[in-house]
Amino acid sequence: MPFKLFLFLLLAPVLIHSLDPVLNEDVLGLIVFKAGLEDPEGKLISWNEDDESPCNWLGVKCDPRTNRVSELVLNSFSLSGHIDKGLLKLQFLQILSLSRNNLTGTINPDIARIGSLRAVDLSENNLYGSIPDDWCFSLTAVNLSSNQLSGKLPSEIWNLRGLQSLDLSDNLLYGEIPQGIENLYGLRVIRLGKNRFSGKLPGDIGGCLHLKLVDFSENFFSGWLPESMQRLSSCSSLSLGGNSFSGEAPDWIGELRNLEELDLSANNFSGQIPHSIGKLQLLLKLNLSMNEFAGNLPESMANCINLLTVDVSHNLLVGGIPSWIFKQAVRSASFFGNQLSEGEDPWLTSTTGAASPGGLQVLDLSANALSGELPSDIGNLGGLQVLNMSRNHLSGSIPKSIGELKVVDILDFSDNRLNGSIPSEIGGAISLKELRLQKNFLTGKIPTKIEKCSSLTSLILSHNNLSGPIPAVIANLTNLQYVDLSLNSLSGSLPKELTNLSHLLCFNVSNNHLHGELPVGGFFNTIPPLSVSGNPSLCGSVVNRTCPAVHPKPIVLNPNSSDSGGYNSRSHGHKKILLSISTLIAIGAAAFIAFGVIAVTVLNIRVRSSMSPSAAPLALSGGEDFSCSPTADPNYGKLVMFSGDADFEAGAQALLNKDSELGRGGFGVVYRTVLRDGRSIAIKKLTVSSLIKSQEDFEKEVKNLGKIRHHNLVALEGYYWTPSLQLLIYEYISNGSLYKRLHDAPARRCLTWRQRFNVILGMAKGLSHLHQMDIIHYNLKSTNILIDGSCEPKVSDFGLARLLPMLDRCILSSKIQSALGYMAPEFACQTVKITEKCDVYGFGILVLEVVTGKRPVEYMEDDVVVLCDMVRGALEEGKVEECVDERLGSIFPAEEAIPVIKLGLVCASQVPSNRPDMSEVVNILELIQCPSEGQDE
Ligand SMILES: *[C@@H]1O[C@H](CO)[C@@H](O)[C@H](O)[C@H]1NC(C)=O
Ligand SMILES: *[C@@H]1O[C@H](CO)[C@@H](O)[C@H](O)[C@H]1NC(C)=O
Ligand SMILES: *[C@@H]1O[C@H](CO)[C@@H](O)[C@H](O)[C@H]1NC(C)=O
Ligand SMILES: *[C@@H]1O[C@H](CO)[C@@H](O)[C@H](O)[C@H]1NC(C)=O
Ligand SMILES: *[C@@H]1O[C@H](CO)[C@@H](O)[C@H](O)[C@H]1NC(C)=O
Ligand SMILES: *[C@@H]1O[C@H](CO)[C@@H](O)[C@H](O)[C@H]1NC(C)=O
Repeated sequence: MPFKLFLFLLLAPVLIHSLDPVLNEDVLGLIVFKAGLEDPEGKLISWNEDDESPCNWLGVKCDPRTNRVSELVLNSFSLSGHIDKGLLKLQFLQILSLSRNNLTGTINPDIARIGSLRAVDLSENNLYGSIPDDWCFSLTAVNLSSNQLSGKLPSEIWNLRGLQSLDLSDNLLYGEIPQGIENLYGLRVIRLGKNRFSGKLPGDIGGCLHLKLVDFSENFFSGWLPESMQRLSSCSSLSLGGNSFSGEAPDWIGELRNLEELDLSANNFSGQIPHSIGKLQLLLKLNLSMNEFAGNLPESMANCINLLTVDVSHNLLVGGIPSWIFKQAVRSASFFGNQLSEGEDPWLTSTTGAASPGGLQVLDLSANALSGELPSDIGNLGGLQVLNMSRNHLSGSIPKSIGELKVVDILDFSDNRLNGSIPSEIGGAISLKELRLQKNFLTGKIPTKIEKCSSLTSLILSHNNLSGPIPAVIANLTNLQYVDLSLNSLSGSLPKELTNLSHLLCFNVSNNHLHGELPVGGFFNTIPPLSVSGNPSLCGSVVNRTCPAVHPKPIVLNPNSSDSGGYNSRSHGHKKILLSISTLIAIGAAAFIAFGVIAVTVLNIRVRSSMSPSAAPLALSGGEDFSCSPTADPNYGKLVMFSGDADFEAGAQALLNKDSELGRGGFGVVYRTVLRDGRSIAIKKLTVSSLIKSQEDFEKEVKNLGKIRHHNLVALEGYYWTPSLQLLIYEYISNGSLYKRLHDAPARRCLTWRQRFNVILGMAKGLSHLHQMDIIHYNLKSTNILIDGSCEPKVSDFGLARLLPMLDRCILSSKIQSALGYMAPEFACQTVKITEKCDVYGFGILVLEVVTGKRPVEYMEDDVVVLCDMVRGALEEGKVEECVDERLGSIFPAEEAIPVIKLGLVCASQVPSNRPDMSEVVNILELIQCPSEGQDE
């Protein structure tokens, strides 16, 4: 705020009364008014207190003769705050319009008295308090609608003889309307709707002869309508809906010849609908719904030739369907919830040829007492968008002409006695969104032509006697959300393609005769069991029935074994590693604390040297002795895919081939296999079977892991379970591991700096997501970071420790012994709680590995180099740049590389609490990233 304005505002209360009259009063008043407001969008920025006149300010208009402000129009300016007294200075103000802002506080009574005011519009704000009772007499229009004003309507309002428009709707006003409204001879519009007024309507309202629009809807008015209202012959809109008016609708209603809109809905009117209504030739919209009108609809209504919308739903009307609704301009006719019965005459024949495509658009005859058949020429109503005939007693079949309803959105014939089949002509109703035919006696097949209704979102055919298969073409109706085919006699299997329906919210096929396998993937992985129950021959994990016919054989893993259906452990018969690593680690625990990472290194050397060369292939795979001995396997296992489908016929063969082995880790061997559809997947055969939890726990954990989806995490797509063999099915990542790219790749495929930075950032994002999901990786190392075709890193192998019965450190340590160098020091210390900070440590080491291109621990001829210590030393000596991978030459931005190295060192702190959270790491990396370095050289 400029200092001058600040000072000015401080003194404003004094100034307002004592300023030099030469200073423009309007500028002063408006600046003070502005000071009481918040103006988040800066709409009033042009209001400058240094200006001599406000006439060019936004929202301000002056009278050219006097050069004084005559209009202030600040609608929808997003202003909040209070309406300040400053406005009182605007002595020539005629129009004050502050509608659709967020103004609060009460309405200052002084403002209502500004002498020159003619129109006040404060609608759609948050004003509260009562309505001022002393208003300036020149007012012609007052609009205070959509605020929170409360209290009673002050009778003084009726003294504003010039008033033409009064809108107080949508507030919290209450009490009775005071007498005296007839004083407002010029009143044209009165809107008091959506308040809490009660009592009778003012008996003298008929005095306001010029009233055109009367809205008293949604209050608590009661009693009869005042007789004097019949004098309101100019009235074109009368809204009395949502009150408690009672008695018969008065016959004089027909005298209001200019009525275009009449709303008496949701009251307690009873008796017959007055015949005189037929005199209302200008009537466009009639709403008599939710009353207790009885008897027939008056035939005179055929004279209301302009009627577009008629709603008489929820009454007690009897008789036939009036034919005039088909013949005239009517667009929407709602008759639901009466007792209309169409008697002997087929109700549409009279209309044949008469209805034009521009005719009826909405016809709701639901919940009446219609019997007989649907008219065969219903297709003549070519403009229909909604046709609701539900909850009647209709019989016969669905007419073929239904296919001529080209623009129909909603067809509802539910809850009738229709029989026959669903005509294939339904495919002609190409705009159909909802088809509801439930609770009838329909037979035959679901027509495949339904495929043409490509906008269909709801297909409800339950409770009929439909038979035959569920047509696969339904899978092409990709907008489907609600499908209910329950309680029919459908047979066959569920088309696999149904998993394409990505918008499904409900798919109920319960209580049919379906058989075969439930589709796997998409909505069907989480389909509620009740939606498929009552089909004794359906199988799949949801119904707890395995599908023996579909994948009867386990995947054979041993190429030397010819017995199908059996599984032989690869390691069967081999001698296992000689030393228990966990013991070593336990012994080494004290040393860890004393010597930090060096101790780890020493241990690692000892482990390596203790391996006998003959045991090497196995020992290197993890060195554990946990593989189960093969026992008699049951004939089938359980295969669950979280998304999509899997056809392993080709894959099983591939698995036999040792060449398809991708790698080995602490938890098992990973193979690549190709599904029939050509997609590659990676399959991990768990080698820790005997430690795996119960099937139930295993499935629960694996399903949880399957839910984790992140760009930088390898997705778990499914699993295969038998008691002795567990496979985890992962997405296949094409470009191998980070380890390979850093240490094994030929120099020309060496990662660029930009790629390395992206790998670091991606790993951080992946880990951060994991930690958000409360999952600790436990097993970070560069062989577990996979690189995809676009050089994005994907963290793999996460969460597997959860499959073990408990997080036993010994087991964990032995599982991840190959990760020595990445393992946080606290792992060796039984008393320190292991948290996600152990992953941060591993990440820190990975960062250093990526930047330097060196392994965490390098074995030289007679030396051991611990990466972390080496880098830390270099940093202390001020030559950390020399650590950066020499293969990068000098083309790397030091302003990125050095902070990244420092970040890696902080992550690899010995003390867990010194390490940042992964989410912080992501933030830091994004800060470090040079903004200019978009692409690579
Ligand atoms: C209106 O103001 C209230 C309180 O000042 C605030 O909570 C609300 O978000 C505002 N609404 C709009 C639409 O600005
Ligand atoms: C009053 O203001 C509201 C909202 O700004 C507007 O919709 C309504 O038509 C106005 N009432 C009259 C009678 O002009
Ligand atoms: C509606 O009117 C009937 C008599 O016509 C009366 O019995 C009933 O109490 C009234 N209901 C209400 C809500 O006023
Ligand atoms: C008629 O009035 C009722 C209740 O006030 C409302 O729900 C319904 O939408 C109205 N009908 C039409 C066609 O506007
Ligand atoms: C879905 O539509 C496509 C293209 O129109 C067609 O090739 C495919 O066969 C259809 N699918 C089914 C199950 O009919
Ligand atoms: C399947 O088994 C699970 C757990 O054993 C149980 O909760 C579920 O209700 C069963 N589902 C069916 C359809 O029987």
